[in-house]
Amino acid sequence: ASGAITIDPGYKNSGSCTSEITFLDGEEGILRYRGYSIEELADKADFLEVSYLLIFGELPTATQLEKFENDIRKHTLVSEEMKSIIDGFPRTAHPMGVLASLTSALTAFNPKPVNPNNEKEMYEAVCKTMAKFLVIATWTYRKKMGYPLNHYDNSKGYVENFMSLMFELPTGSYKPDPKVIDALDKLFILHADHEQNCSTSTVRIVGSSHAGLFASISAGVSALWGPLHGGANQAVLEMLQEIHDNGGDVDKYVLKAKDKEDSFRLMGFGHRVYKNFDPRATIIKKAADDVLVTLGVDDPLLEIAKKLEKVALEDDYFKSRNLYPNVDFYSGIIYRAMGIPVEMFTVLFAVGRLPGWIAQWKEMRVNKEPIGRPRQVYTGYTLRSFKEVKDR
Ligand code: SDX
Repeated sequence: ASGAITIDPGYKNSGSCTSEITFLDGEEGILRYRGYSIEELADKADFLEVSYLLIFGELPTATQLEKFENDIRKHTLVSEEMKSIIDGFPRTAHPMGVLASLTSALTAFNPKPVNPNNEKEMYEAVCKTMAKFLVIATWTYRKKMGYPLNHYDNSKGYVENFMSLMFELPTGSYKPDPKVIDALDKLFILHADHEQNCSTSTVRIVGSSHAGLFASISAGVSALWGPLHGGANQAVLEMLQEIHDNGGDVDKYVLKAKDKEDSFRLMGFGHRVYKNFDPRATIIKKAADDVLVTLGVDDPLLEIAKKLEKVALEDDYFKSRNLYPNVDFYSGIIYRAMGIPVEMFTVLFAVGRLPGWIAQWKEMRVNKEPIGRPRQVYTGYTLRSFKEVKDR
């Protein structure tokens, strides 16, 4: 530290703001949205209800919830020009990169800045963002598969639309299993917010310059993409698949992580805040068992995941560092059982996290947080004079 500046890499011990949205207790493994426990919300609420709670601060009445669902329906049509934007991508593009671009492109069709202190304007921006983001998120999959881009069906619910927008084809009428929709609804709830994580902090700092909501969310999508953050759910499945393909020897991978062999980490383990079980992982692990039984799927990767968890939790390296399975460890097993391709896993995380990003952006603006602009400790050259190129 020099003078008053203290460096805190990764902001491990810095608070960036006050917030009334989400409460985490890392020691006790507690997660609450606006004071309600994640266990109760996952068990009794639905995703739009929880989205409303996070963004507006209270659980909606039946009338408010119905109005919210219908007001979202008013904005579900995505401009045809957006199709030419997505057409420009190669089919090999990663869906998260396409999603970040399309989200930012939405600003072109909604250029009027949102005044977060104008309740009506903010409410409409929330509905518009929830509606359009869901559609473009599924378009990233349609693009990869070479399927025709489709539209939200206003006769269906929000989460059911996600499944239909993903898998419906002109050749047949897709009918998702209601149990799958329930499981997905619960997964979105579990991902909806998580206080000042990397992508949410990104949304807040981009928004602190008064950049628009779509631009801020687009930046959040990019931050979430990283394998140390939301991208971990894809990396977990790829790791489990590799262990399976190499004969299922989990000990070898635990050892590789302990030796930090080419900085290998067990994906889906560890957390900046939780020094105990991630309460979401506990719920998702149970849901994984239920969904696989419901779908009659017997996934060898689930057995490998459980074996890996058992070995790691008994190992001193992991215990001494409080490394437990996090939200990403089991979620991919469920997505796979639902037929969601692995490169879409982080897109699902983004769909779940969207209401949290919106809620945090709104809070940051309503609280008139100053523009984010940290300082540094300079460790470069002291003053030196310019040298002509002939003398260098
Ligand atoms: C999410 O912040 C949030 O809330 C995020 C999230 C949300 O909802 O928004 O919960 C979602 O991003 C969950 C995390 C998903 N990421 C992964 O599963 C990737 C693997 N995990 C990590 O890389 C790591 O645990 C982090 C990124 C999650 C947390 O990293 P920290 O807090 O910066 O901890 P660190 O990197 O300083 O590690 C501390 C020690 C190190 O060892 P030593 O230097 O002390 O010897 O623990 C080791 C690390 O090498 N370590 C791991 C490990 N995670 C940390 N070793 C092996 N495998 C791991 N997974």
